[in-house]
Amino acid sequence: MRKIVINGGRSLAGKVTVSGAKNSVVALIPAIILADGIVTLDGVPAISDVDSLIDIMETMGAKVRRTGDSLEIDPRGVKDMPMPFGKINSLRASYYFYGSLLGRYGQAIVGLPGGCDLGPRPIDLHIKAFEAMGASMTYEGSNMHLVANEKKMHGAHIFMDTVSVGATINTMFAAVKAKGRTVIENAAREPEIIDVATLLNNMGAHVRGAGTDVITIDGVEQLHGTRHQVIPDRIEAGTYIALAAAVGQGIQIDNVLYEHLESYIAKLEEMGVRMTISEDSIFVEKQDRLKAVSVKTSPYPGLATDLQQPLTPLLLMAEGSGRIIDTIYEKRVGHVAELARMGAHITTRSNYIAYTGPNKLTGAVVKATDLRGGAAMVIAGLMAEGQTEITNIEFILRGYSNIIEKLRELGADIQLMED
Ligand code: EPZ
Repeated sequence: MRKIVINGGRSLAGKVTVSGAKNSVVALIPAIILADGIVTLDGVPAISDVDSLIDIMETMGAKVRRTGDSLEIDPRGVKDMPMPFGKINSLRASYYFYGSLLGRYGQAIVGLPGGCDLGPRPIDLHIKAFEAMGASMTYEGSNMHLVANEKKMHGAHIFMDTVSVGATINTMFAAVKAKGRTVIENAAREPEIIDVATLLNNMGAHVRGAGTDVITIDGVEQLHGTRHQVIPDRIEAGTYIALAAAVGQGIQIDNVLYEHLESYIAKLEEMGVRMTISEDSIFVEKQDRLKAVSVKTSPYPGLATDLQQPLTPLLLMAEGSGRIIDTIYEKRVGHVAELARMGAHITTRSNYIAYTGPNKLTGAVVKATDLRGGAAMVIAGLMAEGQTEITNIEFILRGYSNIIEKLRELGADIQLMED
């Protein structure tokens, strides 16, 4: 078992560069199945979710070449076959194979996705959209069998009951080669949706309105190869901003698009965090006193649920009391008990987290309960006096590219150790 060991209480300084967005790339890779040519992605993060997707693509027959942060995929040899369950349920984003296989072959035999335990994570909206576009679903053992009734998907008018990133992207995948027009209303507006639509359009698709709540897709016969730069990871950027405000003596974060983080930055400013924002970087100053604030997550452009947990250790440094309400995943609270173990005054109530500060954290043996909860423990470990050991770190490595190396560059005393 691997663990991260941090000797906390040090001040960090310097520069850190944000990698390509995890939640984009995990959709961009399955999207490539829809192309009849080679697609190259640049700016691919070094995370284990990418390794898992490459493994699945190769198992299906794609030829994959990785050079530095570029990934070249030739999907022309991909076969329409049942996906090996152990690989599919190793990550959440494997649900994107439903849409891309349906779009390419008119059928998909895929197991249920895995991913972080954030409470219930249904996929009913994905299935409803596929059914509206002419597919039927049955279960075969642990696999879901989706088949287009007329061999090919057809366009449909779909209203999403809830704003869903995954269901919006999956519907786009099923629609780009479908017969006729698909309209998605109440679509998710996250930057990752725009990134995926950009790739699809550069492959020859007709997707309009990505980034608004109505997306229109006119199906085309064929898609071709292209080259695409993955957008910067706004969640990784937000994590380093919180970390810099908590333990930094002046840290510059490069490859950040401020427009993707407006609500988060506004919340940090409300706390009193001092930052200088430039075109594609943010400089976070050493902080003095911070003010406790309340936080509520919501779909983009609201404050991202994925930043709620990395922000929590910083909130614990602030003076006063506040609450955190996650309207996307009410049960995304795994980090709370772990932070309390380090001496924080933080509890979960019925549907929110309550905290009072300022807190002085003490090193402890804690676990990463999920990806972003793990990032919260890394920040807490850097803030704490003494040594912190974080277990279950596989979660962290799923989504943070070269995190140990990046933190060491900033002066952190952090190591990855085998037990
Ligand atoms: C994506 O998950 C991200 N994952 C998550 O990032 C992120 O937390 C989430 O979007 C919200 O922003 C990937 O991109 C791979 P949703 P997704 O469908 O698409 C409900 C991280 O830490 N819902 O937008 O699965 C759902 O329960 C991760 O990087 C339904 O009810 O999330 C939730 O309350 C974890 N039925 C809300 O919608 C459905 O069929 C939004 O979920 C689908 C979703």
